[in-house]
Amino acid sequence: MADYDIVIRGGTVGSSAGTFEADVGITGDTVVALGRNLGAGKRNIDAKGKLVLPGGVDAHAHIEQLSGMGVMGADNFESATGAAALGGTTTVVCFAAQHKGKSLTKVVEDYHVLAKRGAIIDYAMHMILADPNARVLKEELPALVKSGHSSIKLFMTYEHTKVDDEQLLDTLVAARENRALVCVHAENNGMISWMGRRLVERGYRDPRFHGPHHPRLCETEAIYRLAAFSELIDQPVIVYHVSTAEGAKVIREARGRGVKMFAETCTQYLTLTVDDLVKPGLEGAKWVCSPPLRLQSDQEALWHALEIGDLQFVSSDHAPYRFDATGKLRAGPEPSFKEIANGMPGLELRLPLLFDAMVSKGRYGIEQFVEWTATAPARMYGLSPRKGQITIGSDADICIWDPKRRTTISDAGVHDNTGYTPYAGRTIEGWPVTVLRRGEIIADDGKVKASAGSGAFLPRDPGEAAKPTGRLSPEFDETRNFGAKLY
Ligand code: URP
Ligand code: ZN
Ligand code: ZN
Repeated sequence: MADYDIVIRGGTVGSSAGTFEADVGITGDTVVALGRNLGAGKRNIDAKGKLVLPGGVDAHAHIEQLSGMGVMGADNFESATGAAALGGTTTVVCFAAQHKGKSLTKVVEDYHVLAKRGAIIDYAMHMILADPNARVLKEELPALVKSGHSSIKLFMTYEHTKVDDEQLLDTLVAARENRALVCVHAENNGMISWMGRRLVERGYRDPRFHGPHHPRLCETEAIYRLAAFSELIDQPVIVYHVSTAEGAKVIREARGRGVKMFAETCTQYLTLTVDDLVKPGLEGAKWVCSPPLRLQSDQEALWHALEIGDLQFVSSDHAPYRFDATGKLRAGPEPSFKEIANGMPGLELRLPLLFDAMVSKGRYGIEQFVEWTATAPARMYGLSPRKGQITIGSDADICIWDPKRRTTISDAGVHDNTGYTPYAGRTIEGWPVTVLRRGEIIADDGKVKASAGSGAFLPRDPGEAAKPTGRLSPEFDETRNFGAKLY
């Protein structure tokens, strides 16, 4: 009689605290034993010479969603999460995106239908609020947070989704009252549209002008403003996709004065630079994302900010648009940089690219890789201890890595619906060869093994991160004490 359903034998298990030699025993969908020479499994997987790491948690991915520029992404749940599985990611937090005038409840319900039908990995949802009016915040938000949608996403820019300062403040108050976390795309909208207009008026239209279109200062200013709002209301916030050294510095200063501000950066800001935008013709459109790609020196500053804890994790910001009239070129065959859909694919390659940059290149240990790509995002978003770690009682979401496998990335070798990858031509070392999600092999040797719809929704209590500090600013407190109407 077998003791376990599956035993992964003889591998090196990694966690954010260290590595150790152990077999992993799985029964049903759960890790039930860790130790040497475990008893028999109905199925035994040989992991000698391999790394046994937690499945990745990607906390920022746009799937089957209308963007802030009004463009539909190239992926549906099946294509996005199948690609994610092949790259070792077993949990994703995607977006139920409200557009102006829409009921948030209906948006979330509709999005559940799409995810339930297609998801291959497990998923949670952030709610994008583009129209945070009193009805949405008072009548819809509380029940949605209670039903496990415990994070809100706001945009400070983008035509269809941006909120102004007062809406941002209203939402922070509502989040505080409901114990939800607020994630923010922090860029100054006025600076972007003003720069865009000036550039185009002067005849600068190429994709490369997307860089100056979003000046570095628009990130610095918006993060600073967000930190001030967060401090006023004492509401924790997560800054999305930090791209500059100055942005990281503002976060450091805010954290230093006690503001509960957290932050992610993304694979592209650590592995690509603005030079990638400079390509003949429109080719550079594939590298147009917001914030834009920055400098080598920013990469160094972002790695450093991760090391010292000012940034806590790395997401993909998967935002896939095909290089055709459905996506990047939806404004016609000769768009200006302003009209090119913003975003790039990243769910599949986030882990392999980061493993190569961090572990194979000898820059960081397995511990940091696991922490920044799985354990920390799970913890921040209320998914721990179920996700993001291999411990007894956690979901058996496990990647078996061949740390020496070399792969040359190509457009034909990736599996989402984008049709290209911004990383084509790069050779990387280390690949997740077998991937389990809740004890089921969902990807093996380049093939998806699970069916669409086998991923499960993960309702979340707000994690520790969402707890206010208790130091409400006296000015804000006054408005509450006098019973002022906040929205
Ligand atoms: O360019 C990007 N990042 N597009 C996706 C939407 C966003 O800004 O997060
Ligand atoms: Zn964003
Ligand atoms: Zn995004």
